[in-house]
Amino acid sequence: MKITMIGTGYVGLVSGACFADFGHDVVCVDKDAGKIAAIEAGTMPIYEPGLDQLVGTNAAAGRLTFTTDLPEGVKGADAIFIAVGTPSRRGDGHADLSYVYAAAKEIVESLDGPAVIVTKSTVPVGTGDEVERIARELRPDLDIQVVSNPEFLREGAAIGDFKRPDRVVVGTTGSERAISVMSQVYRPLNLNQAPLMFTGRRTAELIKYAANAFLATKITFINEMADLCEAVGAEVQDVSRGIGLDKRIGSKFLHAGPGYGGSCFPKDTLALVKTGQDYDAPIRIVETVVQVNDLRKRAMGRKIVKALGGEARGKTVALLGVTFKPNTDDMRDAPSLAIVQALEDAGAKVVAYDPEGMDVAAPMMPGVTMAGSAYEAASGADALVLVTEWDAFRALDLKRLASSMSAPVLVDLRNIYPVAEAEAAGFTVTRVGGKGSAA
Ligand code: UDX
Repeated sequence: MKITMIGTGYVGLVSGACFADFGHDVVCVDKDAGKIAAIEAGTMPIYEPGLDQLVGTNAAAGRLTFTTDLPEGVKGADAIFIAVGTPSRRGDGHADLSYVYAAAKEIVESLDGPAVIVTKSTVPVGTGDEVERIARELRPDLDIQVVSNPEFLREGAAIGDFKRPDRVVVGTTGSERAISVMSQVYRPLNLNQAPLMFTGRRTAELIKYAANAFLATKITFINEMADLCEAVGAEVQDVSRGIGLDKRIGSKFLHAGPGYGGSCFPKDTLALVKTGQDYDAPIRIVETVVQVNDLRKRAMGRKIVKALGGEARGKTVALLGVTFKPNTDDMRDAPSLAIVQALEDAGAKVVAYDPEGMDVAAPMMPGVTMAGSAYEAASGADALVLVTEWDAFRALDLKRLASSMSAPVLVDLRNIYPVAEAEAAGFTVTRVGGKGSAA
């Protein structure tokens, strides 16, 4: 199959490289000539484990090519994927669809025969209808099918998620050609027994938002439960395990922490809230999740000030991890941003270290000193805060850290270290949701 991928951002580049790895012929198109040149030279625009190798191998094999020329890229394609950005529109939180519609228009204008256009970008319900309208208006002469195929890739694990998905959702308006093309596109996944689920197009668009909003709700639920655990003297990790072993609930996404961030959950929950309001079917539970999560990030700053003894002025706080989660350099809506702001507002000086995120983070937190290692960050600090659970932070020499600090205060926002172990190393420990498991 010949597949064209419009947009070489996170989703487009990972999906394009994975499709090529399955043996399809893939052309990735992006307007940004600098980005295309960099990718061709082996420099990825994002940090994603394994991506540079996957792109390199498939490009060398001739299955994966890159271009800035969209009309050339869509020529003869069996399926054309739109994987451009849909940021939150400034002011009202609606998804900004201008890039999607611009791409759709340009694709349709360039077509030389029937085509299947697939929206992979996360788009609100009804976007496929609008893309179809654009297609009919501009090219009434052609049979153009518009399909929704949302992605469920986690940053840091995107290649594995693409190749071994829990499911693939494809929304169509019932066209046999569209269903047949999409079945062939995903046929290589048959071996991995991934369920390929065909639905209506609007349903597929909604499934994406429902999935992300549900996961964000699960996280927010356990985060509020963590606060209650602290208040009543219970332990949230045991609560998570205790409820998660119930198969109806499931153990995933029940880790209490500083609040969710990233490129998807904050944006998608907000967009779903707006859609619900627009259609007079408000999703109140998600409205609350959005508010609670926003407040939580800043509340983590107050938690740190409390651990410092209630006064942060003139003190130095060392942050370990600034990205919104490990194995990415993505800083979008990272809890660290609100935490730094809260600490600086309280008069503290902030030092930070992150294995991959410091280049992206530095301009977003200009007052923060970036350190060369976890040990360098901790040296002389009044508190050490674990913000992101990178593997590199899971087995630190706690004694060495504690003895190098002005005051050995550990605020573990991801509950990585057993309290007893950190205390034995000399730390005073603050966690999220209790004092640690009794077992
Ligand atoms: C998410 C979805 O998982 C993915 O399916 C979708 O396509 C895009 O959004 P991603 O944003 O890459 O992926 O990260 P994810 O691993 O889901 O984590 C999101 C946020 O939730 C992070 O800030 C993470 O720290 C937080 N989180 C996750 C928790 O606080 N607790 C958990 O138990 C799980």
